[in-house]
Amino acid sequence: MNSTAQTRTFTKAAALKGTITVPGDKSISHRSLMLSALAVGESRIEGLLEGEDVLATAAAMRAMGADVVRGDGGVWRIYGVGVGGLMQPQQALEMGNSGTSTRLLMGLVASHALTATFVGDASLSKRPMGRVMEPLSTMGAEFTASPGGRLPLTLRGISPAVPIEYRLPVASAQVKSAILLAGLNTPGITRVIEPVPTRDHSERMLAGFGAALTVEVQADGARVISLEGEAELRPQTIVVPGDPSSAAFPMVAALLVAGSQVTIENVGLNATRAGLVDLLLEMGGNIEVINPREVGGEPVGDLVVAASTLTGVEPDPARAPSMIDEYPVAFVAAALAKGRSVFRGLEELRVKESDRITTMAEGLRMIGAQVEELEDGLVIDGTGGELLAGGGPVATKLDHRIAMSFAVAGLVSSGGVQIDDMRPVSTSFPGFVPLLESLGGIA
Ligand code: S3P
Repeated sequence: MNSTAQTRTFTKAAALKGTITVPGDKSISHRSLMLSALAVGESRIEGLLEGEDVLATAAAMRAMGADVVRGDGGVWRIYGVGVGGLMQPQQALEMGNSGTSTRLLMGLVASHALTATFVGDASLSKRPMGRVMEPLSTMGAEFTASPGGRLPLTLRGISPAVPIEYRLPVASAQVKSAILLAGLNTPGITRVIEPVPTRDHSERMLAGFGAALTVEVQADGARVISLEGEAELRPQTIVVPGDPSSAAFPMVAALLVAGSQVTIENVGLNATRAGLVDLLLEMGGNIEVINPREVGGEPVGDLVVAASTLTGVEPDPARAPSMIDEYPVAFVAAALAKGRSVFRGLEELRVKESDRITTMAEGLRMIGAQVEELEDGLVIDGTGGELLAGGGPVATKLDHRIAMSFAVAGLVSSGGVQIDDMRPVSTSFPGFVPLLESLGGIA
């Protein structure tokens, strides 16, 4: 990230029109690099997200012995070291802003006999790592962490590690994945039970690389994921679909800006990720999914989105994991909807790149929205389609999704919304501003 903040004001837009694609899925990109680095031979990744978070994972895999090369045309080639073959990194692993890199790599390192130090930016250094340290300690890894179980931290892995059966106390795909990745180089069966389903990209990709993995769904809906350790992974060609969490921003912009009609092609629509589309449909959004197909073992479709009058909602907290990263922009949609929206059960939003409940409440109020902050969510009284007043500068607190959410809010404000710093956007969505601008209507 450059050293000077990039402020930017987004002002009232005219109709957005056009057909776009968004960059590759961040979750799938991280996992494709990690698993390729553990397969013996050459894997190829097409459509990898080349955002700062994923590049941090690529650098870490290189530092631990894999050959990771970006070839012509943006196809990445990875020559893996084999499960159990990771090597001692010579320097601290720089994780930047990326919680996914940190937690998943902690899992990988935990079952290798090597020591790694993880460091990150001010946002990442505030985020809790105890949720992965706890199960990985049971598997035999040791940690020296900063107070509160935070970064910087040093992990001493162990081989062989001890397989565990672990019931997730928080609905977190990162914790689930960290344990499964540790289980790859652990003898016996490692088992994770998730009472509430979270994104299942790790399970799909592990199976795709040839690991013996089973998923059993219990009567109460809990998923039991069992992985046989000491796996041999076979190299793959992976095609990464567009990120639904990135598509969320042009999707909400197209719904809110009068007269808009936007097609977003090649969007991942895995049911464990597609909660925002369902929510916006319930709010009355005009969204059509066309050309449903499968890409790289993941469901994908094109979204045709037209400007709509939205109505407030009270979404069931049980759907939170399927749209956990989309709440900030969903709050913007609610701020323009007709009537009241009540969002509850969202404690996890307080430990994302920023405290997304407080950051959104403060920012939305600053630009004229009616918002009440609860311990576990927000109550938002929408304008019924009237423009927001605008204002700022809104504090993004090193959080890419806060910056992009308020950019969307600016497009439906009479006075414009000033964002204090757009730099964090490059962690997940390089080219966000030019892509929005390509839809016209933006001054
Ligand atoms: C992710 C899981 C989610 C999500 C994050 C990416 C992943 O985090 O918020 O952006 O790739 O596994 P949690 O597991 O903490 O919910």
